Amino acid sequence: MAEHTSTQAGDGGRLQAVLSPEDEAGQARFDEIIAQDSRIEPRDWMPEGYRKTLTRQVSQHAHSEIIGMQPEANWITRAPSLKRKAILMAKVQDEAGHGLYLYSAAETLGTPRHVLNEQLLTGRAKYSSIFNYPARTWADMGAIGWLVDGAAIANQVPLCRASYGPYGRAMVRICKEESFHQRQGFEILLELSRGTAEQKKMAQDAVNRFYEPSLMMFGPPDADSPNSKQSMAWNIKRFSNDDLRQRFVGMIVEQAKVLGLTLPDPDLRFDEESGKWIHQDLNWDEFKAVLAGNGPCNAQRLQRRREAHEDGAWVREAAAAYAAKTNEKAA
Ligand SMILES: [Fe+2]
Ligand SMILES: [Fe+2]
Repeated sequence: MAEHTSTQAGDGGRLQAVLSPEDEAGQARFDEIIAQDSRIEPRDWMPEGYRKTLTRQVSQHAHSEIIGMQPEANWITRAPSLKRKAILMAKVQDEAGHGLYLYSAAETLGTPRHVLNEQLLTGRAKYSSIFNYPARTWADMGAIGWLVDGAAIANQVPLCRASYGPYGRAMVRICKEESFHQRQGFEILLELSRGTAEQKKMAQDAVNRFYEPSLMMFGPPDADSPNSKQSMAWNIKRFSNDDLRQRFVGMIVEQAKVLGLTLPDPDLRFDEESGKWIHQDLNWDEFKAVLAGNGPCNAQRLQRRREAHEDGAWVREAAAAYAAKTNEKAA
């Protein structure tokens, strides 16, 4: 939808949008760029709905990266070896970097970062519901890497071709690191699965807990996802939620075999006729409840984020003071 500069009553009293000549030219150029499957850049005219949708999506994505550091950071001090600790630290740092690329991309749409951050800290902005589940055992580091980063990859690879330039380019860098994240998770599970009976049980338990929430990371079924169509028409989204979920299920079914672990889904099978994976019904009531703030760790995650923000105030102040001093000198 284009931004309406004014509305007037048209035939039959219906309200009709009237665009200024500049907006009309901008809309025509925008439509052309989208039709050519080319890229919109920050300087280009864009419909207000496109700007809003992207600001919401990219900032939610940034928030997810930052909040997503918490369940794993929780295990850095308890990683079972120096090697595992170094890998996990690198992974959690990568997620911070992803957050930074994405906040920068979101800012190019016109909303400053402190405003986006405020939306997160006050609980007005959403982030991926998966990060409101606790990471109970070391095997959860494996399940999160394999399933959560795996679902993130399935979601994000097509976003490398998103029509908004800064978002697509950020996703290219992010996806390279995500594939390492998934492999390190897979490898943790593989080692546990080939370990003692107790270790294998721990790996299976982690997969049991993260399987369903990871399938829900793709969002509600297509029929309940009214905004998806518009996002696809704008070349932001390339595949529907259900299509992405299908790809992901197909991928993890084979990988689970290599791991020697089972996916906790009695309904799971490939339906030759439709060419689709059939999986259990997902608990969308739980999904909505977690998204609304009532998951097992929502309050804790936000509280921790607020504390970290306060603890980092001196860094921001020092950076701002240094920037002011540098500018003064240059002037
Ligand atoms: Fe990430
Ligand atoms: Fe990741």
